[in-house]
Amino acid sequence: MTRTLHKSGQMYAEAQRYLAGGVSSDARRMPGVPLYVDHAEGSRLWDVDGNVYIDYVLGQGPALLGHCPREVAEAVAAQAVRGMAYSAQHAAEVRVAERLCAMVPSAERVRFNTVGSEAVHAALRLARGYTGRSRVLKFEGHYHGWLDPVLYSVHPALDAAGPAQAPRPVPGTAGQQPGHADDLIVCPWNDLAALRRTMEAHAGQLAAVIAEPILCNTGAIAPEPGYLEEVQRLCREHGTLLVFDEIITGFRLAPGGAQEFLGITPDLSVFGKAMAGGMQVSALVGRAEVMDHISTGQVAHAGTFNSHPVGIAAAEATLRILDRRREAVYGTLFSTGAELMEGLRAAAAKAGVPLLVDGPGPVFQTYFTDASAVRNYRDFAATDRAMMSRLHAALLDRGVNMVPRGLWFMSTEHSSADIDATVDAFSSALKVM
Ligand SMILES: Cc1ncc(COP(=O)(O)O)c(C=O)c1O
Repeated sequence: MTRTLHKSGQMYAEAQRYLAGGVSSDARRMPGVPLYVDHAEGSRLWDVDGNVYIDYVLGQGPALLGHCPREVAEAVAAQAVRGMAYSAQHAAEVRVAERLCAMVPSAERVRFNTVGSEAVHAALRLARGYTGRSRVLKFEGHYHGWLDPVLYSVHPALDAAGPAQAPRPVPGTAGQQPGHADDLIVCPWNDLAALRRTMEAHAGQLAAVIAEPILCNTGAIAPEPGYLEEVQRLCREHGTLLVFDEIITGFRLAPGGAQEFLGITPDLSVFGKAMAGGMQVSALVGRAEVMDHISTGQVAHAGTFNSHPVGIAAAEATLRILDRRREAVYGTLFSTGAELMEGLRAAAAKAGVPLLVDGPGPVFQTYFTDASAVRNYRDFAATDRAMMSRLHAALLDRGVNMVPRGLWFMSTEHSSADIDATVDAFSSALKVM
């Protein structure tokens, strides 16, 4: 079962002479040799050694329509020969902004960026500029990109994280500007009493509450019934903006993101990943009255590559497909997701392994735990994460690529045959673990 990684190993050795740490993003490190991809198509990845993988990482989410959807690839190729860097206005950005306003409940105005971290940065700057307040509340376990003001308490060490009901902001890296911790308040997810208490204690200070509407960076944890409604009510009561980070959930759960799926319209939201079928485009969208603080020049927002013509061409093609084939796309994502979740549950039960499989379907999480539910980061931290890493390695050896922490992204290109093969690989992996 073990793969040959001869060329990959050579490339990794070479990479370490030129790339710091041998990789271009910390998320691509893995024990042993990282994946060296040769090409990708549909639900599959091929590595440089010729190994084939059924891919549930999908570029960390973007390849919702599978790798290289033809219509998107053709739009990219057509635009590439008409110009790749205008740094000027063009017609397609207006069409895509208009389409976003039609698809996304909270979108009355749009600004484009390149990646998710930037769009989050723009959202929080705007929230601060609009409210004249400096503090932001985030939830423990939620990830909002790698920039200094928000890289706190994603997966903190428990001995540094403080009490479960009143977590301390724990920086995510050496070199992080320490002052940001003073402006960041951390709350447990799915705990209304803690949120009420914290918002009361910081009354008049909070510019924004930011959340992944369904937490996907620490398990796949939905808000409990009524939770986000009350978060929104508290935000209104305190004059605080509600910001949804839909970098993962956007376009994955519905054309209008988790906000459409859950029926809660935030003040501001950010999108990226699946928006452009694999190209790098992100967007900040929101209420006109708030967003217009950017356009009147009060809050600065810029970027050489904003509304990059090739990325926007990819976004236009992707959004057109999501809109036009709405029922087929989301029908497939939910049904194949449910099929795989059920297959993994059944395989684990047969092997006598305690496994919890949870999430909406188009994205879901496997946890090694006896618990019947995972509600927040502390529950997630109590699951057997070392065993999940072993599963990741064993699945790679069997031609299945999942996100190492146990997250699975579905695409419209995953077939029932892919799912059967994945469940077989999973059963075989459990046997050797
Ligand atoms: C919820 C969420 N927000 C923000 C980001 C940052 O996006 P990017 O990596 O494109 O900067 C990510 C990345 O995974 C994410 O999952």
